[in-house]
Amino acid sequence: MPDDLLVLRASELVTLKGPRRARAKGEMSEFSILRDGAVAIAGGVIVDVGRTESILRDHDATGVERIDASDKVVMPGFVDPHTHLVYAGSREFELELKAKGKTYLEILQEGGGILRTVQDTRAASKEELFRQSARRLESMIAHGTTTAEAKSGYGLDKAVELRMLETIKKLGDDYPADLVPTYMGAHAVPQEYAGRADDYLDFVVSDVMPEVARWKLAEFCDVFCEKGVFGYEQSRKVLLAAKALGMKLKVHADELRPSGGAELAAEVGAISADHLAKPSDDGIMAMARKDVIGVLLPGTPYSSMSKDYADGRRLIDLGVAIALGTDLNPNCWNESMQFTISLACHKMRMTPAEAITASTINAAAALGMEKKVGTIEAGKRADIVILDIPTHAQLPYKFGTNLCSSVLKDGEVVWERQPF
Ligand code: NIG
Ligand code: FE
Repeated sequence: MPDDLLVLRASELVTLKGPRRARAKGEMSEFSILRDGAVAIAGGVIVDVGRTESILRDHDATGVERIDASDKVVMPGFVDPHTHLVYAGSREFELELKAKGKTYLEILQEGGGILRTVQDTRAASKEELFRQSARRLESMIAHGTTTAEAKSGYGLDKAVELRMLETIKKLGDDYPADLVPTYMGAHAVPQEYAGRADDYLDFVVSDVMPEVARWKLAEFCDVFCEKGVFGYEQSRKVLLAAKALGMKLKVHADELRPSGGAELAAEVGAISADHLAKPSDDGIMAMARKDVIGVLLPGTPYSSMSKDYADGRRLIDLGVAIALGTDLNPNCWNESMQFTISLACHKMRMTPAEAITASTINAAAALGMEKKVGTIEAGKRADIVILDIPTHAQLPYKFGTNLCSSVLKDGEVVWERQPF
């Protein structure tokens, strides 16, 4: 097949060449960099990677579209393994409450937080829900995200949970990004079940989950396992039911206090445990033993005005493979993996190389996509970002602006910076 596109002369081509699995410990900083790097793309797939000179020698470049990436970093498209992309409304008024000292759980227990967004999401039409979520997805793509996970969890009744999952499907069909859907009925206890969490979980497991599985609307199931929301036993019940229906598992684990979430993720064979600001040592060791990926979400303590960031450095040193995600949601309206990487380096003591590995191949592994995306190697999808910086070390260093110059999905340029 003739080439469709050549990306040439990258000052750094960050390939992350290596095993097609999550990278742990020292492997997280061993990503390979080619200077004056080039990529040949055909049929939406990467067909060759090398120095510009050798790619130009080995490929007939006549009439082939080219991108000159001089002075730029070329790397895999970002994979965002944890988002609540689909919801209606916003919660900027909570910022003031948080500034005055209200905690995340206090706001939720007073009927705000997730429950406020449940009201707004239930009230939105299908079209409105799609429209509001699509604006966010467009911005994620413009910031270099080419694959993302997206959860339900703001309907909590059957009709709106299914509507959220259908919206994720339609967004993935209509936009140049791969979306991986997760069912998260166990996100909060809805007001109509107040004080009856176990009855609500019976409804989740017996009524909604079989429908989700029947229509193949979700690849993963996730639970908010946190003292004060759903406890260890309650979360375990939901996850085991989902597993029996063929779903893969994730856990919102130990975000606010040690709640057995990391241990549970290891016990039930979850692919990832997410948040992990407060895991127990036993939980961390269990995750390392069972190869559960730790998905860290530094945007959440940032927007929650909390000092409790996950200790990325310690988790990596203890052998947990780490991925990074935005946790985009109405409490943490973060559409940018670039900002997330910057936070991870400044607040979780991760190095630029570790944070980039965590946002590409390890994030792909947290979605079961490690064989398809997450590195720049022949045979992988041509999901690529070109950043307007000469070295990857500037990615966390220059924060607060969009560093993308071009974003490629399946070999097509889907977003490009407009020149002045
Ligand atoms: O991952 N912690 C639970 N769920 C989301 C927040 C959802 C919300 O506040 O709307 C999270 O942070
Ligand atoms: Fe979340």
